[in-house]
Amino acid sequence: MRIVIVGAGNVGTALAVLLKQAGHTIIGIASRTEESATKAGTLLGAPYATDPLQFTRQADIVFLTTPDRAIADVCAQIAAKDGFSQGTIVAHTSGAHSSQILNSAIGARTISFHPLQTFANPDSGIINLPGSFITIEGQTTALSTARQLISDLSCRPLEIPTEGKPLYHAAACIACNYFTTLLDTALQVMEAAGVNKEDGLPALAPLIEGTWNTILRAGTTQALTGPIARGDTTTVETHLQEMNEKIPSVIPLYRLLGQATVDVATAKGTLGETELRQLLKTLGGAK
Ligand SMILES: NC(=O)c1ccc[n+]([C@@H]2O[C@H](COP(=O)([O-])OP(=O)(O)OC[C@H]3O[C@@H](n4cnc5c(N)ncnc54)[C@H](OP(=O)(O)O)[C@@H]3O)[C@@H](O)[C@H]2O)c1
Repeated sequence: MRIVIVGAGNVGTALAVLLKQAGHTIIGIASRTEESATKAGTLLGAPYATDPLQFTRQADIVFLTTPDRAIADVCAQIAAKDGFSQGTIVAHTSGAHSSQILNSAIGARTISFHPLQTFANPDSGIINLPGSFITIEGQTTALSTARQLISDLSCRPLEIPTEGKPLYHAAACIACNYFTTLLDTALQVMEAAGVNKEDGLPALAPLIEGTWNTILRAGTTQALTGPIARGDTTTVETHLQEMNEKIPSVIPLYRLLGQATVDVATAKGTLGETELRQLLKTLGGAK
């Protein structure tokens, strides 16, 4: 397929490299600044420009890989100059937005095409994307092409109702971004306990891997262990007392996650009524 990328950032560059490796033709990569366009074009050995209209009319697929806030405007600017040919597929890669933000591309077929992976930079995206899911929704006639591209990228498709995109993206942010924050918090607490940051992360890594493997095998409910799953309220009280002394800033997060963990433990069926009440009282979640 003849593919154009608009937005030569982390996702746009990685996607272009992988689509080229899969045998597609990158007929052009455009970006807002000369610098980003040149860098990506040189890396790809593909034509580059700051004006997407130099390429978009010749494309089978145009990927708009700008930041979320620019997608609708960039699409409208190209559409206003008849930049999309009839039947061209116009896709964006935002997780939170649906294909409806591409409504200005009249006559084109619009989809959202969200790689469910993290792209801290183009290189890590190129390494991490194969094997990941790519979430799609939009015009039915374009979805079969999207599925083919996903297969060409050695990825797997996940289809989602259009109206589900914001919540789907919230879920992805919890799993990816909040997980990162959670580990950062755990390392702060480790440091307060006297373990420095350099030692804390490698020490936690096998525990995280073990937990992850159990979750994959048994699901989140059955994977839950620890004082809340056992109903050991005194241990939770000790945590809170020590945090109050040494690192009180993490207590609100500890309490909130503790309350949510009580719900998981309840679903697992390991808590009696009394333990449940004591835990909720200690964690501030008593109703
Ligand atoms: N990063 C992730 O982990 C990730 C994962 C999945 C999906 N996504 C989605 O993928 C999209 C791109 O994210 P990203 O992380 O790749 O962002 P990014 O690294 O900031 O790249 C966006 C690029 O868009 C360009 N741009 C900005 N405004 C533009 C305009 N008006 N016209 C043309 N190009 C413009 C910027 O170019 P200049 O450098 O030239 O200014 C920048 O290089 C977003 O919708 C994001 O939600 C991101």
